[in-house]
This record gives sequence, C-alpha cells and structure tokens, in this order.
Amino acid sequence: MWEYTDKLKDHFFNPRNVGEIENPDGVGEVGSLACGDALRLTFKLDENGRIKDAKFKTFGCASAIATSSVLTEMIKGMTLEEASRITNKDIADYLGGLPEQKMHCSVMGREALEAAIENYRTGGRKKHELQGNVVCTCFGVTDKEIERVIRDNDLTTVEQVTNYCKAGGGCGGCREQIEKIIENVRGRPAPKQPVHAGRTGRLTNIRKIQLIQQTINEHIRPALRAHGGDIELVDVEGNKVIVAFRGMCAQCRMAEFTMKDVVQSKLREFVSQDLLVEEDSPSDQQPHDHRE
Ligand code: FES
Repeated sequence: MWEYTDKLKDHFFNPRNVGEIENPDGVGEVGSLACGDALRLTFKLDENGRIKDAKFKTFGCASAIATSSVLTEMIKGMTLEEASRITNKDIADYLGGLPEQKMHCSVMGREALEAAIENYRTGGRKKHELQGNVVCTCFGVTDKEIERVIRDNDLTTVEQVTNYCKAGGGCGGCREQIEKIIENVRGRPAPKQPVHAGRTGRLTNIRKIQLIQQTINEHIRPALRAHGGDIELVDVEGNKVIVAFRGMCAQCRMAEFTMKDVVQSKLREFVSQDLLVEEDSPSDQQPHDHRE
C-alpha cells in the first residue's frame, strides 16, 4: 500500500475546485484516458492579471485527484509569471510529499498548468504538446520530457524516470534509451537496476490476483467512483481478468472503451503486460441450454 500524507488524503476525499470554468482565460489538457490519467485545467484572471479562479477535471488515481486539487489552490492569486515557475516538486511538496511511484501525477499537474498558460498567451492548442522525439511508445513520452524530469528532480536511475513520467514502465523496450539520456544529462552512466518483478518475473497465481486487486483498489476504482461507477474483480483465468462494472459504469456506453483502454492499461502497467480484460457478461451466468 502507498503511504499517503494526511494532506493528500484530505484533497482526495474532499477535492477542491472540481469542474470547469465557463469562458475560461486559459485551458490546459494533458494525458488521455487510454493512458489511464487525464487532466483538464481551466483558469480565469482578474483585472490585475492574477488567477482569480481555477478548476480541474481529472481521471486518474487518488494522487492524480489530490495533486490536481492542490494545484488549483496553489495558483489562485498568482500572476501567470509566478504560476509558470511552479515545478512538479513544488506540487508534491505542497502535499507534504508523494509516494515516489506517484510522482508522475505531479508532473501531469505541471504540464497541464504550462499548457493552460500557453493557451492563454498564444491562443494556441489547449493540449499539452509533445516536444522532441518519442522514446517510450507505450506511454508516448519524448526525449525532451525525460531530460526535463531528470534535471528538475535530480534523477539518476531508469526506475526513477518511470516513476516521474511513466517512460519505461510498460514493455521495457525503451529502457536502454532512457539509460543513455540519463548518461547524457548527468554525465555519468545510470546504475543498472532490475526491472520491476511484476513486469518480467514470473508471478504466482496468488501474487497476480493480489496485484490485480491492489491495482483496482488504488488506481482504477477511485476514478470510476468519482464518476458514480464502480468495478469488481470477478475472476482471473490465466491471463484473462474478468471484471464487472457497477453503478453508472454499468450503463455507460463508454464502458467497453473504458475497460479496454483504461482498466487494461492500468493492469498491464502495474501487474503484467500479458493481461487481457473482459467484462463479465450476464448471459455467461445463465445455465447452459443442454440439447441432447
Ligand atoms: S516503449 Fe517504453 S515501456 Fe514500452
């Protein structure tokens, strides 16, 4: 289980400034449902050019919701110049710290803020734009983004880079390139570290089910509950994970998309790349019609 600060728990259970500002001055979007985390930030300025109001909509885990909430509190009253100097470390510090594995949520907040300020200044795209060449195709992370998290957070290992921007956390095919980037930025090679056992090591059935349940509890359920839904683990058959949606999710037309692209992506990220997610079909529960 993650160690969360009281402040983080408070912002997760009582998120501030949820929603969207009408006729905002700036809009910033980052992430996608397919990657399991998405944030939309809107702000309005007062007559002196200070941020009068800020709101967010987030799809993600408890840390993503808490970092988005706290970010809206931090920037209120700031000029855009002041807000543009906020780093992901500032956001994490404001929460009293984040689990290392969750630092990517603070990076997502910083990127959404930068995109919103850029949108206000240039009237250009609201979506955080990728700069540089994509290194990690699993999570769409570029060399420039990796260089930035290394510099901003003084990172030295591939594992740390994964925690801060997810790069390297999927198939692992980009890890060598990440090592080279660390070496270029730091001027010395990254220490070799074993890859997360859950991704490459053999999982026992019991351990696999435990990790699946833990991932559902910590990374999937909070986001679905925030939208009036829920999810239950029904069964695990080999690499097939059978789940059932509850509440709003059960009637949602987006359920199939949500399950394939969000639930499966999260389970692959935190448990194993081989997992396939299927929805428990009510018809599967009917007795078979035996014709003899
Ligand atoms: S390409 Fe980076 S983890 Fe797959």
